[in-house]
Amino acid sequence: MLLILLDKLLNYKEKILATAPMMDWTDAHCREFHRLLAPGARLYTEMVHAKAVIHGDRTRLLAKTPLQSPLALQLGGSEPDALAQAARIAADHGFDEINLNCGCPSDRVQAGRFGACLMREPALVADCVAAMAAASDVPVTVKCRLGVDGDDDYDAFARFVDGAVAAGASMIVVHARNAWLSGLSPKENRDIPPLRYDWAHRLKRERPALPVVLNGGIATQPAALDQLVHVDGVMLGRAAYHDPYLLHALDAALSGRPLQSRADLLRALRPYAETRMSEGVALKHIVRHVLGLFHGQPGGRLFRQVLSEGGHRPGADWQLVEQALAATACVAARDAA
Ligand SMILES: Cc1cc2nc3c(=O)[nH]c(=O)nc-3n(C[C@H](O)[C@H](O)[C@H](O)COP(=O)(O)O)c2cc1C
Repeated sequence: MLLILLDKLLNYKEKILATAPMMDWTDAHCREFHRLLAPGARLYTEMVHAKAVIHGDRTRLLAKTPLQSPLALQLGGSEPDALAQAARIAADHGFDEINLNCGCPSDRVQAGRFGACLMREPALVADCVAAMAAASDVPVTVKCRLGVDGDDDYDAFARFVDGAVAAGASMIVVHARNAWLSGLSPKENRDIPPLRYDWAHRLKRERPALPVVLNGGIATQPAALDQLVHVDGVMLGRAAYHDPYLLHALDAALSGRPLQSRADLLRALRPYAETRMSEGVALKHIVRHVLGLFHGQPGGRLFRQVLSEGGHRPGADWQLVEQALAATACVAARDAA
């Protein structure tokens, strides 16, 4: 029994825990917090279009701190030259992985001929990956769906993956459902098309050397650990954002590191927050990412309320966070009495 447990622990140390790229959510402030919660996790930026990387405000778009590594920049786009140029820039900025988005179903993205509609263009994806891989030494990975609309062809999905891998992709992240390109909003596209974890499991079984990371609907620690029996890694999006302590607990379970208290984890963010505030960033932009820290805990609602209401007041500083922690501790103590 002990040996089996030990074996599981050793295997888990090799496994990948990742947070999902999420537009408007996984900004630099969020990633700093997630890194403190999960020192072993791979973090992903929001998607940035290759042309924005080339022509846009890089100080803003590529903002990060050294602590956030290993950190992947997720690129959107479908022009090999632009993606290669953006990949080179990302490498120069110190990103540790460059990920190509082949999963976003939004109308704007479809109109630009990138994101999920690339699932139907495996040759173009292979060209994009080859150009990105040739542009720098930084690993290139792909995040994809199983197919689009009514596609239900495992072999087509596997051919898509094989094309990307032959072109140089070193890892595949599978959001294990189709994207429906018409009739569903991006939000609905994250819930309504049914999950098919078995396709990701089969992909891994048939390609043991290919790192496969499974994404979609993983919302508890047992669910994540169950999936890690079948694949190399799990990527958590909404659950990690709304219940960030889950990310911490999972990282601790995989690494063997001890659990820290919510308050200690949050206080570790203070130096970062105060540096950003000294540069003119309002506290509310940072603390909006920590609102779920006491999810499901006594006082969790009050914690969220104190921070979200107080964060909007001009001049709000770290004392607000201390007030939120104190209020939460009071509720917890009252409930325990
Ligand atoms: C607010 C939000 C924004 C997202 N933005 C992106 C994105 O920029 N790139 C991407 O590949 N996926 C994006 N996604 C999808 C997630 O990366 C992930 O695939 C999806 O939420 C399913 O994982 P989950 O069930 O763990 O949340 C986004 C999801 C959310 C909730």
